Amino acid sequence: MQILKRLLRPLAQVWRRTIEMKAGIFMAQAVCGDRKEKSCMAELAPTVSNVREWRADFPISQSAFKKRIFEGNELFELFVDQQAICYGWVARHGVRIGVLHDLQFKVPDKAFYIWDCATSPAFQGHGHFQQLLKAILASHESGTTALVAVDSKNYASRAALRKAGFQPVFSYFSIRIFGAVVWSGVVEEGKLKKAQPRFDQLNTGLEIG
Ligand SMILES: CC(C)(COP(=O)(O)OP(=O)(O)OC[C@H]1O[C@@H](n2cnc3c(N)ncnc32)[C@H](O)[C@@H]1OP(=O)(O)O)[C@@H](O)C(=O)NCCC(=O)NCCS
Repeated sequence: MQILKRLLRPLAQVWRRTIEMKAGIFMAQAVCGDRKEKSCMAELAPTVSNVREWRADFPISQSAFKKRIFEGNELFELFVDQQAICYGWVARHGVRIGVLHDLQFKVPDKAFYIWDCATSPAFQGHGHFQQLLKAILASHESGTTALVAVDSKNYASRAALRKAGFQPVFSYFSIRIFGAVVWSGVVEEGKLKKAQPRFDQLNTGLEIG
């Protein structure tokens, strides 16, 4: 069996390079949920900051940081004992987001999109990401909607998002053969649809939460 596996490994590698299928889940949560009529604007928890200045310990260069800010993104960081251990980027409405392969959408009015998040490996599994997500939501106005797209195989992130109150809106997938997208779809309420029109639809009606 081991020998067969070893013999088939190069074939599997070629197959993966030739055909690439990726899938994700698009999730959302209304800020303040059913308390939309009341203002829910809250101060950030003391351990979470909206960071405006680049630092040398960031995983991206200063120019990449400035570009993200210029394009309408904000960086939130969670601190424990004055050490930054978890971060997440938030795109404002109007920012164009690349989701997967060539699938993209523009963040709708009254919404924001959470992306590029991570917790330092030594601090993972202690609820820090959930805490950061809650703080990000609390810093936004009641009636807005938080959006996020997560890789189907990212079980830790999916668990944290669910526990922080995010609900799946639809699942999406995209298939590339030799680098060219051949099909991308969305599964919503058991129905299969073309993916890009569904992402475009986010701008014409965002009935979530
Ligand atoms: C995804 C990530 C940000 C989560 O950070 P975190 O601070 O560890 O998250 P939390 O502790 O708040 O929640 C993670 C949850 O997933 C669970 N979990 C961890 N690994 C898991 C796995 N392999 N399968 C299922 N659940 C898992 C944890 O137990 C925890 O759930 P719990 O609160 O019920 O115990 C972190 O794993 C990470 O930095 N991953 C690499 C970057 C990444 O994938 N970013 C994508 C963000 S969309």
